[in-house]
Amino acid sequence: MDMRRAYRMLQIVASASKTEAALLDKTAAQLWSLWRQGLSILALDGDKVVGHAALVPLIPEQNWYEFGVVWVRPEYRHKDLRVALRLYKAMFEYHAEKYILATTTNLAAMVVGWRADMIPVTFSSLPPEVWRETCCCPANKTGAADGNNMAYCKLRERLSDGCFVRITQPTHQHLGTPSLITLPAIQPTTDVVIPNNNIRLLLSTTP
Ligand SMILES: CC(C)(COP(=O)(O)OP(=O)(O)OC[C@H]1O[C@@H](n2cnc3c(N)ncnc32)[C@H](O)[C@@H]1OP(=O)(O)O)[C@@H](O)C(=O)NCCC(=O)NCCS
Repeated sequence: MDMRRAYRMLQIVASASKTEAALLDKTAAQLWSLWRQGLSILALDGDKVVGHAALVPLIPEQNWYEFGVVWVRPEYRHKDLRVALRLYKAMFEYHAEKYILATTTNLAAMVVGWRADMIPVTFSSLPPEVWRETCCCPANKTGAADGNNMAYCKLRERLSDGCFVRITQPTHQHLGTPSLITLPAIQPTTDVVIPNNNIRLLLSTTP
C-alpha cells in the first residue's frame, strides 16, 4: 500500500483513540512506528479504514507484546461482519511466536478475545516485570495513590466492571498453563462464522 495512504488511515485511528473510553490515547506517529515495525493490521472496506489492531512492545527483548489499539469503525460494530474477530485471529496467527497479552475493561473485547481462543488468567500469573509494564494506568483510574498498581488497583479483576488480562494459547503454554480466571457473566457463543465479504485485512510488513 502507498505509504501516505497508510499514514492517513492511521491518523483516523489515532483520532478515534482520543474519544474511545477503553482505548489509550495514541498519536498517528506512534501508530506509524508500530506499522513500520510490522506490528499492526488495518481492516479495509474498499478505500475506507474500518478497523485496526496493533501489538505494542512491552518487553520486546523477552518477546512480550500487548495486543491493543483495537478499534472497529462504529457503524461496522455489532454486525455479523466480525471485523474485530478477524483482526484478533490474523494478528495471533501472524505473530504466533510472540508472547501476547491483552487487558481490557470492555465486555465486547472480552467476548471477541474469548472467541479468538484467548485465555483469561490472573495478573499475578504474569512474570512480575510484564505485569508491571502492562499495569501503567494513572492513579485517578486505579486508585493506587503511590502509583504501585501491582500492589493495589481497584479495577483489577473486579467482577462487575473490572479490568481483565487474557493471553494467547502459545503464551499460556509458555507460562506453564496457569489456571483460568472467572470472567464477568458473559456467555458468548463460540460458533460464530466469519463471512466472506468485501472487508480485507492489510498486515503491515517490516520495511
Ligand atoms: C471492542 C470492539 C473492537 C469490538 O468490536 P465489535 O464489532 O463491537 O465486536 P462484535 O460485535 O463482533 O462482538 C462483540 C460481542 O460482544 C457482545 N457484547 C457487547 N457488550 C456486551 C456486554 N456488555 N455483555 C455481554 N456481551 C457483550 C456483543 O453482543 C457481541 O456478541 P454477539 O456477536 O454475540 O452479539 C469495538 O466495540 C470497538 O472498536 N470499541 C471501541 C474501542 C475499544 O473499546 N476497543 C477495545 C479496547 S480493549
